[in-house]
Amino acid sequence: MGIVAKPPRFKIPLSVITVFVFSFTFIVLLYTERINLLSSSVFKSKSCAKRGYSKYIRKPFEDEKNSTKDDKFKSIIDDRFIFDPDECNVAQGKWVYNRSFKPLYTDLSCPYLDRQVSCVKNGKPDSDYRRWEWQLDDCVLPRFDARLALDRIRGKRMMFVGDSLQRGQWQSFVCLVEFLVPKGQKSMRRGRVHSVFKIKDHNATIEFYWAPFLIDSNTDEKIIGDPKKRILRVDSIEKHAKHWVGVDVLVFNTYVWWMTGSKIRSLWGSFANGEDGSEELDAAVSYRIALKTWANWVDSNVDPNKTRVFFTTMSPTHQRSADWNNKGGIKCFNETKPVTKRGHWGTGSDKRIMSVVASVVGKMKVPVTFINVTQLSEYRVEAHSSIYTEMQGKLLTDEQKADPFKFADCIHWCLPGVPDTWNRILLANL
Ligand SMILES: *[C@@H]1O[C@H](CO)[C@@H](O)[C@H](O)[C@H]1NC(C)=O
Ligand SMILES: *[C@@H]1O[C@H](CO)[C@@H](O)[C@H](O)[C@H]1NC(C)=O
Ligand SMILES: *[C@@H]1O[C@H](CO)[C@@H](O)[C@H](O)[C@H]1NC(C)=O
Ligand SMILES: *[C@@H]1O[C@H](CO)[C@@H](O)[C@H](O)[C@H]1NC(C)=O
Ligand SMILES: *[C@@H]1O[C@H](CO)[C@@H](O)[C@H](O)[C@H]1NC(C)=O
Ligand SMILES: *[C@@H]1O[C@H](CO)[C@@H](O)[C@H](O)[C@H]1NC(C)=O
Repeated sequence: MGIVAKPPRFKIPLSVITVFVFSFTFIVLLYTERINLLSSSVFKSKSCAKRGYSKYIRKPFEDEKNSTKDDKFKSIIDDRFIFDPDECNVAQGKWVYNRSFKPLYTDLSCPYLDRQVSCVKNGKPDSDYRRWEWQLDDCVLPRFDARLALDRIRGKRMMFVGDSLQRGQWQSFVCLVEFLVPKGQKSMRRGRVHSVFKIKDHNATIEFYWAPFLIDSNTDEKIIGDPKKRILRVDSIEKHAKHWVGVDVLVFNTYVWWMTGSKIRSLWGSFANGEDGSEELDAAVSYRIALKTWANWVDSNVDPNKTRVFFTTMSPTHQRSADWNNKGGIKCFNETKPVTKRGHWGTGSDKRIMSVVASVVGKMKVPVTFINVTQLSEYRVEAHSSIYTEMQGKLLTDEQKADPFKFADCIHWCLPGVPDTWNRILLANL
């Protein structure tokens, strides 16, 4: 099936266009999908919260250099708290540009990145998007410390479970630590569904398991392009979940695959007439049943004394430039700066889904730690792979690049990039 879709004509009502753009995007997404997996969830077993008050002195920021002496005095006394997962809200903060910030890896230095996310290697002309750091309002979120990360996973299996966004987070995590591991001590085995990065001297693995809906569907392994032909078995998870047993750190996600239209063909229980027994459900309703199936599995199978469970919240998509007031824009194409409006929230993050996640997880027995990436990622309209990506295993051609409405990928993120910050939060909670 080809990726042919005509641009919508402008007499169609906006809602239809939105759905259309979403379905189209989704089809593009499918074809850029290389089957592998990644997803994340973490739970916390906190005995007692450490409270610390840091009055540490920092250097003035670039834009503070011209301020008055008085201002300067105030600004160099940083009275934010040392990061404490129970006290600090990772959604409240701002992106700060730091010219001298260097990510721990690049898409040339890390051999484990997919071409889909290797934007600079694929010709992205600016790498400014790598120099923004997420700064919390009230707390100091520590930078990713690769040594500490290796230490935390020593003797453990860590597994990201979910969709291609989760695969991005997995690759980010691998690249953030692999440069510390000598050549003979590491290995990578990529599979269609299950991939394993092994660190021998630490007896640790960082794995990815592909399960884009977490529950079972007819489009997990052999992807079905037409969303209407997909059927989700919303009460069935064992096929995937048996591979998660015994893992020490589980990091889950699931979101974007649910957003291909407003209805989802869902099947539960058993029907003599098989798939004909499925019903079209509102996406949020179907999502709730599926997430409950997942929650029930976790509660019945995970030993909270042994395993931490994390859940990465929705990764926002940026398909409508009007969301951030760029009326003449084409999706996220050609954006070069994050959105600065505080609390910006676009149509690419579904609040209904967020509330389903919060309510289902809130009733679980096993503690699940959120990596709440939605708000901070909402600002980063300029950090998607856009046209510097591949489709069906091939880099976009010049003609395709010239048609960003159709071909720009505003779902996945360049690496290094925004998912590194997700992992910074993950490590701060680990
Ligand atoms: C600081 O002030 C100088 C002189 O007024 C000006 O040239 C420079 O651009 C200012 N820098 C910033 C960061 O505002
Ligand atoms: C910017 O990054 C550099 C290099 O990592 C670091 O030394 C400096 O403290 C950072 N500046 C700010 C304002 O965070
Ligand atoms: C290595 O880790 C696995 C679990 O991930 C554990 O079962 C095994 O005992 C560990 N081996 C050593 C030598 O620590
Ligand atoms: C977890 O550990 C606590 C304290 O050591 C113990 O009381 C509890 O029974 C354990 N839970 C499970 C599921 O093993
Ligand atoms: C994208 O940005 C480049 C550089 O700023 C500009 O030359 C080009 O016209 C822009 N393209 C579109 C379609 O806006
Ligand atoms: C994540 O953060 C957003 C923005 O602060 C908030 O609205 C949402 O409820 C949070 N989600 C969860 C599951 O805690």
